[in-house]
Order: sequence, then C-alpha cells, then structure tokens
Amino acid sequence: MNVIEAISVRRSTRAFLSKSVERDKITTVLEAAVRTPSWANTQPWEVFVATGDTLDRIKKQYQQKHAESAKAAPETPRPTEWPDAAKNRIQQMHKDMKIDCGDAVEQFAALNQSMFNAPAVIYICMDKSLSQWSLYDIGAYSQNILLAAVEQGLAAIQAINLVQYPDVLRRELKIPDNLKITIGIAIGYPDKENKINNFVSRRTSLEETVRFLD
Ligand SMILES: Cc1cc2nc3c(=O)[nH]c(=O)nc-3n(C[C@H](O)[C@H](O)[C@H](O)COP(=O)(O)O)c2cc1C
Repeated sequence: MNVIEAISVRRSTRAFLSKSVERDKITTVLEAAVRTPSWANTQPWEVFVATGDTLDRIKKQYQQKHAESAKAAPETPRPTEWPDAAKNRIQQMHKDMKIDCGDAVEQFAALNQSMFNAPAVIYICMDKSLSQWSLYDIGAYSQNILLAAVEQGLAAIQAINLVQYPDVLRRELKIPDNLKITIGIAIGYPDKENKINNFVSRRTSLEETVRFLD
C-alpha cells in the first residue's frame, strides 16, 4: 500500500469487534509513528496503551459517569465557537452521516459513550509546560498512527470523547501529574456489520481552501 492510498482509505471507525489486537501490531504502529517530525526533535508524545482489564475498568467508569451525566472535562477544552465555514461543514457531516448510515446513526452517541467497543485505546499525553507547537507535533504523530494502522489492516478513530474523564484515566493509567492528556485513539478490527462504519466523510474541493499565487 502506498502513502496516498493509505491516506485516502483511512477513515474513522466507530464500531469495533471485541477481537483483541495483536501486541506486535500495536508495537509496529508505534514504531512507525515515532518517526514523526517534531519541533527541534523534542518528540513530546508520552503514550499509554490501555487494553484488557485496564480498558474494561476505564469503560465501566466512563459508563458510570455517563449514567450520572457527569460533566465532560477534557484537558484540552472543546471549542465554544466555530467560524461559519466550520459550522457549515459540521452540519453537512451530520447530514451525510444520516445518508450513509441510515438508522445506525442513532447509535452515534452510545458508541461514543462506550469507547466504540474498541479492544485497545492509545492515549497520547505531553508535558504540561510545552507550548501549542507541541500539540501540532502530537497531531502529526496521531495521523502517523492512523496511517500505520491502515497498513497493518487495523481500523482506528481519534476522539475527544475518549479523554473526557481525565480523572479516570489518571487513576487507571497512572499518568503522572506533569503530563496533560491530549487525545485517545481507539484501535482494533472494524465491525463491518455495523452500518455506522459506512460513513465516508466528504471533503471540500481544493478551490475552496487552497490559493495558488504565481
Ligand atoms: C481531534 C479530533 C477529535 C475527534 N473526536 C471525535 C469524537 O469524540 N467522536 C467521534 O465520533 N469522532 C471524533 N473525531 C473524528 C472526526 O469526526 C472525523 O475525523 C471527521 O468527521 C472526518 O472523518 P474521517 O476521520 O472518517 O475522515 C475526532 C477527530 C479529531 C481530529
């Protein structure tokens, strides 16, 4: 598989099989991602991989928090305002999801709340004292994980909902105080029977976002 092919077939998977992911596949993915460029080669990522009993405990506590309507508190806060262009694309995404997934779209919230039933979640943290530029590095690192996952025959999704209860993650993953939890990536084998995975997100044309100036 070449890089352009991997970029174009990758998509966010929102329902996984319970089948566990081979440890060596996750290691291969992380070994590939470690080649991500970063500011002055600072390599700011600190990674915690939750599987098995650890992930089960996290899932149970997340379910409990949802049942209590506990307020989500990701350590990088959700944006409160979007510019019009972004707002329109969010609305379009919801419309497209209904078209592609039909009734399965009603499972969107529940699957988000149950960590997409993923057998493994890669949590990425960085030192709290780092600047926003390191978040840029973390984004690039995440994308390389997603692409390497495709190459390994795995499916994945990065999701803020995976990091919405940091107190649970800190306790279960023994995350040191100096680290900020940035994002979680659920990884595993896709449940191809679940129509929520039929969603193929659209993109704008280049004309809308790119200016060539000769
Ligand atoms: C930082 C970030 C956070 C995201 N959080 C969620 C999430 O909490 N739940 C979810 O279902 N999708 C989440 N997504 C996935 C996006 O909705 C998805 O990437 C986008 O719709 C484009 O679809 P694609 O990944 O299939 O190309 C997130 C994506 C990013 C980059």
